[in-house]
Amino acid sequence: METLTAPKAEVKKDVDFLPLNGTDYVEFFVGNAKQAAHYYQSAFGFEPIAYAGLETGVRDCASYVLQQDKIRLVLTASLHPDSEIAEHVKKHGDGVKVIALWVDDATRAFEETVKRGAKPFVIPKAEKDEFGEVVRSGIHTFGETVHVFVERKNYHGVFLPGYKPYRSLRKTEPVGFRYVDHMVGNVGWNEMNTWVKFYEDVMGFKNILSFDDKDISTEYSALMSKVMSNGNGRIKFPINEPAEGKKKSQVEEYLDFYHSQGVQHIALATDNIIETVSALRSRGVEFLTVPASYYDTVLDRVGHIDEDLAPLRDLGILIDRDDEGYLLQIFSKPVEDRPTLFYEIIQRKGAKSFGKGNFKALFEAIEREQELRGTL
Ligand code: FE2
Repeated sequence: METLTAPKAEVKKDVDFLPLNGTDYVEFFVGNAKQAAHYYQSAFGFEPIAYAGLETGVRDCASYVLQQDKIRLVLTASLHPDSEIAEHVKKHGDGVKVIALWVDDATRAFEETVKRGAKPFVIPKAEKDEFGEVVRSGIHTFGETVHVFVERKNYHGVFLPGYKPYRSLRKTEPVGFRYVDHMVGNVGWNEMNTWVKFYEDVMGFKNILSFDDKDISTEYSALMSKVMSNGNGRIKFPINEPAEGKKKSQVEEYLDFYHSQGVQHIALATDNIIETVSALRSRGVEFLTVPASYYDTVLDRVGHIDEDLAPLRDLGILIDRDDEGYLLQIFSKPVEDRPTLFYEIIQRKGAKSFGKGNFKALFEAIEREQELRGTL
């Protein structure tokens, strides 16, 4: 029996103890959910599908659920000053509270992660209505952010028990978002490896890519990043920490204004970035721009691409290539008053990487914005 011990442990190590089907929803705590919902509908093309609040018997908060293909956003605001939601908004401004992960067994997801050291947020709880049952559980991650595990295989309602279908008077015009490609967390000085270890040990993720300050530094500022992925690759969380530079890095600026670690950007995938970004821009979404000279040499770096360069240049879309293909990407300016959360729009044409070839141009664009804000 002794001889079986080592191989047995090896085999066990490769079993995914936390199988994840995808991102279930992303919940923001905001100051005014009704108005935020209007923004995400009118600017980003998300369709409002469900609501919970005073009219549905919820007394302490209001939540709007918006959807575009596989992406579901929940916008929640407090109705009273003394609440976790109100405290969160006071401290962080509008920001991501919950990264919810779709699982087949929320009880097991909770037990497996807590057994490995996760701090419980919600113990497994079944919620029911006439459309069935949802089981949710949750654990803490960086800052005040949490992961909620959602088991909805026995549920056929619009979102979750307690939510009622909601229709906006406004017709929704989607912009072509398909799914959440990745979500990035900003953590504090020397904390990146702590959180890398958390995702490895507690959630069974693997570090699939690393960038150090030599990859990601400009004349002024620097950061380090490690990309964590779950077993099937559907969930990817790059983790950033600031690095020493001549001036303040973008991660430090985030930490100063979010007042803790938290979600820096959400990357949304599209199958046609030119159409998606054209629509977003026409609705007033602001993007970072790179100097026109970027486009003079980009094709020398990335080789042939299917798209015409002119619309990419006009829209400020960036291009990068890795061994498996290329990708097109662009970054929004922060979508709230504080320089905290922003969006990345990404179209992958084979590439599985994150646009390392664009880091310098991109970070110089961010520094120009920081200069305007007086935070460089
Ligand atoms: Fe990204």
